[in-house]
Amino acid sequence: MVTHEFKDTTGGFLGLQNFGKFRGDPFGFLLERVEEQGDVAFFRLGPMIDMYLVSNPDYIRELLVKHWETTVKWSRMANAIASVAPYVLSNLESNIWRKHRKLLTPAFHTQRIQAYLELMQRHADRMVGTWSNGQVHDMVESMTEATMGIIGEILFDIPDIEQEASELSQALDVLLEQIVIDSGALFILPKWLPTERHKREREAREHFVTYLDLLIQQRRAEGVDHGDVLSSLIDAKDAETGEMLTDDMIRGELYGLFLAGHETTSIWVTWALYALAKYPEYQILLHREIVDVIGDGDITMDTLGQLPVMNKILNETLRMFPPAWSLLFREAAADIPLGDGKVVIPKGGVIYISPYVQHHLPQYWDDPHVFDPSRFDNGWKDRIPNYAYMPFSGGPRVCLGSHMADMEAKVLLATIIKDYSVEIADPEHDFWMNAGFTLRPYPNMPLRVRRRT
Ligand code: HEM
Repeated sequence: MVTHEFKDTTGGFLGLQNFGKFRGDPFGFLLERVEEQGDVAFFRLGPMIDMYLVSNPDYIRELLVKHWETTVKWSRMANAIASVAPYVLSNLESNIWRKHRKLLTPAFHTQRIQAYLELMQRHADRMVGTWSNGQVHDMVESMTEATMGIIGEILFDIPDIEQEASELSQALDVLLEQIVIDSGALFILPKWLPTERHKREREAREHFVTYLDLLIQQRRAEGVDHGDVLSSLIDAKDAETGEMLTDDMIRGELYGLFLAGHETTSIWVTWALYALAKYPEYQILLHREIVDVIGDGDITMDTLGQLPVMNKILNETLRMFPPAWSLLFREAAADIPLGDGKVVIPKGGVIYISPYVQHHLPQYWDDPHVFDPSRFDNGWKDRIPNYAYMPFSGGPRVCLGSHMADMEAKVLLATIIKDYSVEIADPEHDFWMNAGFTLRPYPNMPLRVRRRT
């Protein structure tokens, strides 16, 4: 069989043209490459990076399910994350990944997360309780505070981490930006160079490390099981060797979970609120469903399972604005044949899988740039191939927190829309999808809230 040969046709000298285009409009650039080259598009992103953008859903399944152990996380991004904290689950490989994944899984298991419903509701109520009719709120900020409050309680049993949310989220923003810059830069400057950026990165890292170390030390000294993730990590013991986790490992996992556990979910709900403000017809339908199913009662696991309109709106939001829009970089650890050898990704090639690209492929999604929750009407899983919709990825390294995120997004959205309608605060306000580590509305998302009477 003749294997496909890859050729970069757009990069110009040392791939610099691609680099410039990608920086200017990453979404357009990636979709153009797929349109031009199909299932696996090759491009050179600057002189150092050979990218293989895989968009055929079957090939993606092969990569994430069949060949997942022949790939490793892309070293550029893995190193950038490791420079903040070495032991982050999403960054680990082979045995140590297996061990840590097994250890963290119970905290995010479907049965366990039911216990988080009450605290999610409390944080949602607390946020909405501070709002009043006609106010304008930056939803990026409000949702970040709420989701940080929730993950803070789940991880560290701190009931009101919101008090520190602003400082923590500023530090996290700097660290996330650093990961994006270090992953995609043409050249990485040595960290010892005394630049303003390096100084800010160091301060942000120190802020976060000090914060987490203090929590770990206090908990160890206290010796009490709080039933939270921190206690379970401190008590975790390897069944065979009796080994326990070091502070370095606990810090890394807490950092990763804190980050993964609030940023993506807060963005998801923010985009959903934006869509509801922009398309009030869906807001009316959603409000009606919330009144019918939840009414004045508490949100329960049972009522959460009876919200088809909510499901469709949230699914469509994840399709249009996937928070983890392009996190799935891998490096081929050996030559990887796809589609019975039609294509071979060579050892060392960087594999790029982008949920944003998958969710905008015109062969699977009519008018992909239009917000239309009816795409997710009954039977959508039979119409759309697996891996043409993949907001949480798939295979053994699938998102650990997808069920928790789903529940949290529903609780936040139901609590808001039950009592308030949302409107675009200023139609002239300019914002855009920021293609950073996550897909955030930038610089903010001001919406006006109106109390329902
Ligand atoms: C809308 C919300 C979320 C989205 C869109 C999302 C998306 C993803 C994606 C695409 C991956 C795979 C990354 C890769 O393979 O390179 C991932 C991994 C992961 N996610 Fe999420 N996530 C969300 C919420 C959460 C929450 C709430 C938590 C936990 C509290 C969480 C914890 C993790 C962890 C620990 C991993 C690494 C899994 C591993 O490598 O074994 N995520 N997430």
